[in-house]
Amino acid sequence: MPETGSSVQLVDPADTPSATPSGPPPDPYGAPAAPWPGPAPSGVPLAAAGGAASSAMVPEPLVTPDMIAAARARVSPFVRRTPIISTRPGELGLVHGVALKLELLQYTGSFKARGAFNKILVAAAGSGVPEAGLVAASGGNHGAAVAYAARRLGYRAEIFVPASSPVMKRDRIASFGAVVHVVEGLYDDAQAAANAHQYETGAMLVHPYEDVDVVAGQGTMAAELGDQLDSYDTLLVATGGGGFTAGQAAWVRDTRKIVSVEPITSQCLHTALTAGELRDVEVSGVASDSLGARRLGAIAWSVARHFVDESVVVTDDDIRAAQRVLWDELRLIAEPGGATALAALRCGAYVPERGERVVVAACGSNCDPSTIVPPSAA
Ligand SMILES: Cc1ncc(COP(=O)(O)O)c(C=O)c1O
Repeated sequence: MPETGSSVQLVDPADTPSATPSGPPPDPYGAPAAPWPGPAPSGVPLAAAGGAASSAMVPEPLVTPDMIAAARARVSPFVRRTPIISTRPGELGLVHGVALKLELLQYTGSFKARGAFNKILVAAAGSGVPEAGLVAASGGNHGAAVAYAARRLGYRAEIFVPASSPVMKRDRIASFGAVVHVVEGLYDDAQAAANAHQYETGAMLVHPYEDVDVVAGQGTMAAELGDQLDSYDTLLVATGGGGFTAGQAAWVRDTRKIVSVEPITSQCLHTALTAGELRDVEVSGVASDSLGARRLGAIAWSVARHFVDESVVVTDDDIRAAQRVLWDELRLIAEPGGATALAALRCGAYVPERGERVVVAACGSNCDPSTIVPPSAA
């Protein structure tokens, strides 16, 4: 198991400095071009990382900027344009300022509403949503998003939640009107139960990350960010099954640096990038209800191997400290998965270059506040 700060840097052979000698490619997605952050990182090329022997053998990304632009048009009436705040050097325990994209203020408390709305709206405009409605498995945030989107769009939803998920997340799903089934075991067990329900009833499955419409929906965050910030160099995102990270990477492609952050106790993207192939990993730790996927999704893999530039891991203590500083200095409640990207900067797992303009996705807020601040200290 790598130590904290362990980092994999990837360079697609097609993107080496010799292929792009004179600066960044023009930004094809409407955002102003960023100054080139410097030479491409001298990390491990895909092939050398044990992956495909040549770039010709690496499959194309399954999610494209066009799909994300279409998703954005679809979901915009239903999701919040979340704010960005900038910190000054010295704040949040960082020597440099950062921009925080406050996706924890999204409807239902996480970015997941973006993917859920996109998936359901695509179905509604196409073959239709079945009588039996929607079904999903979730550690909590995806289930809340599917329940919320279903209620706003007028469909029934049944959500299968592992018994290991926090009770407050189950209650939140139920508060949006969905039927909640608690399944003994972990996320995989809940997914198996949801699959069985789909098979028995004909309900439409909304997978949390193994679905191109869900991943394209998540990518609308980066598309929105491009409108909000004149320019930036690097985006740090937390990775679970990979849908969130893949969505952002599929939008920015080579125009920005994407850094994936995972808990050391559930690192399926880090493991896949190091091994050059998808592998099952052990899952535990404080963020496992949101980031605890046993295996990276194949859709995420198709994008990440092209466009995730660096992968780092952090400890549970790093995550707890990041939650605490968000509360102490900004009065923000972030759940462990929502504070994981910030943790990478604070603990030094990711160290920006001088002048590098960094955006951190603060992407989820669904937790019991007393796990961050004991009631007596609030
Ligand atoms: C708050 C939060 N951040 C990040 C993630 C990771 O998303 P993904 O599983 O698409 O990688 C999740 C997933 O549930 C989440 O709830």
